[in-house]
Amino acid sequence: MDEVPFRLESGQAWDLADRFGTPLYVLDEATIRSRARAYRESFKSAAPGSILSYASKANSTLAVIEILHQEGFTIDVASEGELEAALRAGVPAAECHLHGNAKSNALLDRALEEGIGKIVVDSLTEAQRLADRKSKFKNTKLLLRLNPSVQPETHEKISTGHEDTKFGLSILEGSAEQALKLMIRAGLPIVGLHGHVGSQLLDPEAQVDAAIRMAEFGTAMAEKIGFAFQILNLGGGLGVAYAGDPQPLSIAEYCRQLVGAVRARVPDSIQLQQEPGRSLVADAGVTIYRVETIKEVSGVPFVSVDGGLSDNPRPALYGANYRTDWFRASNYAYVTDGPGAVSFDLDGVRTAEVYGAHCEVDHLFSNVEMPVAAAEGDLLVALSTGAYNASMASNYNRFARPATVLLRPDGPVLVQDRENWDTIFARERRIGPTG
Ligand SMILES: Cc1ncc(COP(=O)(O)O)c(C=O)c1O
Repeated sequence: MDEVPFRLESGQAWDLADRFGTPLYVLDEATIRSRARAYRESFKSAAPGSILSYASKANSTLAVIEILHQEGFTIDVASEGELEAALRAGVPAAECHLHGNAKSNALLDRALEEGIGKIVVDSLTEAQRLADRKSKFKNTKLLLRLNPSVQPETHEKISTGHEDTKFGLSILEGSAEQALKLMIRAGLPIVGLHGHVGSQLLDPEAQVDAAIRMAEFGTAMAEKIGFAFQILNLGGGLGVAYAGDPQPLSIAEYCRQLVGAVRARVPDSIQLQQEPGRSLVADAGVTIYRVETIKEVSGVPFVSVDGGLSDNPRPALYGANYRTDWFRASNYAYVTDGPGAVSFDLDGVRTAEVYGAHCEVDHLFSNVEMPVAAAEGDLLVALSTGAYNASMASNYNRFARPATVLLRPDGPVLVQDRENWDTIFARERRIGPTG
């Protein structure tokens, strides 16, 4: 069954906008938990003993990390900030693993000091720097990130497993073998391999290719240099259907195909690990914007809303487009697609282009269905914004990053405040008068 994105009803959207202001991130707890359960039931049951981790870069709001940890996920962190978030969300360091192609010595020291569960080693020099810190290891284990030389069909900026990527070490060029030798010689606890081929994938084909290459390499290294190969981390990557995208496999079908193909070629003794991000949280989130201006440009309605690049840089970064619902200020619901869609054609529909409020083109959404009777002050709700929106937000143009409201069984709860002038300017010092 395809997964449908969470969406708000008109009354709910107006109520949330009135209470918490706009732009506003809204997350639905039940959707996050149901996606987490889909992973658990399909991945863990098909691969008993496997580990599921949440790639917290998708959305590192503390409440989201708490929910996914409660659902049995360990936490993938890719920076000291994400490690700090996991710890503040109450996750023991032992249940986190650390990624990064540019880890500083300070970050390695902090991670080892906290007793992080695993570090994913990304370069030869990092392997050496860990060898130099051997006395600081508590229970931390190491995985080696490989460059599996596969190129999935996805946007070039989120394709990360091809031969000339900055991530990991190459099987083909021999640097992966060199790193393993270095760590084994140093007596480091190197227990597995990792590969992430890219994001926004429709199916697991590229991940399966990568897994087979990595497993062959691991098995060969076990025989050749005594590598204690125990864990194979397949990365993350399952996508969601943004506007105009093909529908990716459901989580259940994706896991069934992934585990089926990997288990057929990889020994049962190897523990599998996966670290999805987007597919857990994207469809659980919406962003409520207020329509500020509507103008006619060359016969097309140009709609400007009160957010944009600063709360969602994905359209500018990847040319991403989003599905939207338009709610008239007069409070009638106008749901343009999806289950339960209504099209009571009061005055007809026009196709609009939606822009953000920033000083670039900031073209947010294309081909948006707008009621002809639309007016400034209406609400525009973008769907599937739960991943890579809040976590990529900035203060560009001194915009305040939006608040996040979590819809819980008992009602909406503010889990992240909107920034205010005090928080925005807290880091700055004036230089005062000259002379
Ligand atoms: C190493 C690694 N693991 C997991 C993920 C999560 O990917 P996704 O959100 O597509 O599932 C990413 C995303 O960039 C990543 O770089």
